[in-house]
Amino acid sequence: MTRTLCLTVIALMMTACATSEPVRTPASPAAPATSAATDPHSYANTTAFATRHFELDLDVDFDRRVLSGHVVLRLDRRDAQAATLVLDTRDLDIRAVSVGTADGALTPTAFSLDARDPVLGSALRISLPPPADTVRIDYATQPQASGLQWLTPEQTTDKQHPFLFTQSQAIHARSWIPLQDTPQIRSSFEARIRAPKPLLAVMAAEMQADPARDGDYRFEMPQPIPSYLIALAVGDLRFQAMSERTAIYAEPSVVARAAAEFEDTEVMMQRSEAIYGPYRWGRYDLLILPSAFPYGGMENPRLTFATPTVIAGDKSLVSLVAHELAHSWSGNLVTNASWGDFWLNEGFTNHLTYRIMEEIFGADRGAQERALGANDLKETLARLTRDDDKTLLPDLAGRDPDDNVTDVPYERGALFLAYLEDRFGRDTFDAFLRKWFDAHAFQSVTTPQFLAFLDRELLQPNPGIVSAAQIDAWLRSPTMPADTVWPQSAAFAQVDAERSRFLGGSDTAQLAVDGWSTRQWQYFLDGMPEQLDAAQLQALDAAFDLSSGRNAAIATRWFCIVARNTYAPAYPQMEQHLKSIGRMLLIVPVYRELAKTEDGRALARRIYEEARAGYHPIAQDAIAGVLGSKDA
Ligand code: BES
Ligand code: ZN
Repeated sequence: MTRTLCLTVIALMMTACATSEPVRTPASPAAPATSAATDPHSYANTTAFATRHFELDLDVDFDRRVLSGHVVLRLDRRDAQAATLVLDTRDLDIRAVSVGTADGALTPTAFSLDARDPVLGSALRISLPPPADTVRIDYATQPQASGLQWLTPEQTTDKQHPFLFTQSQAIHARSWIPLQDTPQIRSSFEARIRAPKPLLAVMAAEMQADPARDGDYRFEMPQPIPSYLIALAVGDLRFQAMSERTAIYAEPSVVARAAAEFEDTEVMMQRSEAIYGPYRWGRYDLLILPSAFPYGGMENPRLTFATPTVIAGDKSLVSLVAHELAHSWSGNLVTNASWGDFWLNEGFTNHLTYRIMEEIFGADRGAQERALGANDLKETLARLTRDDDKTLLPDLAGRDPDDNVTDVPYERGALFLAYLEDRFGRDTFDAFLRKWFDAHAFQSVTTPQFLAFLDRELLQPNPGIVSAAQIDAWLRSPTMPADTVWPQSAAFAQVDAERSRFLGGSDTAQLAVDGWSTRQWQYFLDGMPEQLDAAQLQALDAAFDLSSGRNAAIATRWFCIVARNTYAPAYPQMEQHLKSIGRMLLIVPVYRELAKTEDGRALARRIYEEARAGYHPIAQDAIAGVLGSKDA
């Protein structure tokens, strides 16, 4: 059971949750002014207006679970005649809208909110006759906002204070700010956040490193970013520097452990810069969230949001930092123009991650990460039912973009780039990628744009190496190209041998597992047959202490085996795992295994019922989908 498999599980569940209602066509009166086609996941009429800058001003109310205040959007007019601005919202209470020009006073204007689409939310239509280009919206969020998670003190690590965090990717920014919620639009911003003392508010933006906890915080993001990267968190946070430009924000009991675990972050930055060009965002800090955070990491600019489950104590899961940091080039600097181009974010980022892990921790560590990813991809391809979902060009129109969070964009995308690297040589390919980032810095890009660049910069100058037909197969064929370079790890070959010995009846004491990496343990468990008997399970657990859950990535694979084989002695620890973690990748696969039998499903429903309040709205949806209890 692997990361990507789990992502697939999530995606399939999200599919089940998605509505079959037709998706409204976005209002897009004029001819496209950009090279990108209209985004099927946004109502925003970006051919008429483009947000250039915004000012956000919000109060954080933990008692009511509401953010309230206003946003001022400063727009570029792309269509001089346009008289209506269409924005994205979901579950927002819109209180007042006023419009004007940059320097003049704002006056109230007419607006209307369309009916709610289950995937896209509600279009907000604002009368904005020329020459007006500035809009102020006074609004409040609702407690169930899909992009917010409000935690009680008990749900935090230190259990003293409440906590709030946002998760805007893919299309959840609209649940806490009315805006043009499409990665085709980039804007800078300023923000002022008021939060109850003594809590600290942080944003993915420039901020004072360790400010006075006076309840009033200011932020500025000078670089233009897409809306899915807007991020805020409020909690009892401490600050600990790791280098001049890297630090940890975390709850008091976590901050020192996190700083030790991620002390190689500065080195990762330096290696990344040496290959891909300067880091353009100033600082790179990490915010460690309470365990309810539904993802492993989120690449919010200047401030990656991360799950505490990667603090393993031995740096075994730090590739997550390499990954989120790599997004500073692939994703945050050069951004997928729509969610159908998601592989341009995640496939590139996975390639960069593996590349950096090899640089810092050696070739075989990179090979292990690649091989686990490739195995996950094979399982995912076998499981997916839509052919286009197996390609790098899925058709997401009318579907929730979270449906595309599978191994395909991540691992197939990375294998495609590894293939090109193999054909053209590492030096040539590194230089090519650096040029891609430099040439498209702070722009949103489509797959056709990448293909044109690839052709001009790599294929034509080096003729006869890779054909157009081969490229086409990488993008569009539902099967993997025959010339895929499948990763091989020497350390994994050794694991295969030991697993065979165990399955052949060897005593666990005789297995040569000393010094195995976390990735080797994952691979060991992933390769186990569907059925193991109680004696085998007992022997594994007794010898390797698998139920202790010390390493969450290993524990997840183990508890999948426990659930599949109904190994009751480990149920208490499995239940503890499910109740203490909100990261979907680590819990959804276990629920899914449990749901396969009637008894298991009953147990899973009972655990979910007790754990649900602690899960993020996105995770609640995913698990309810797996358990067939959407209305529970
Ligand atoms: N940007 C993604 C997380 C994401 C994707 C959130 C789609 C919402 C929608 C992030 O960079 C990511 O890939 N996280 C992985 C980390 C892993 C690949 C190291 C995760 O959360 O597991
Ligand atoms: Zn990513």
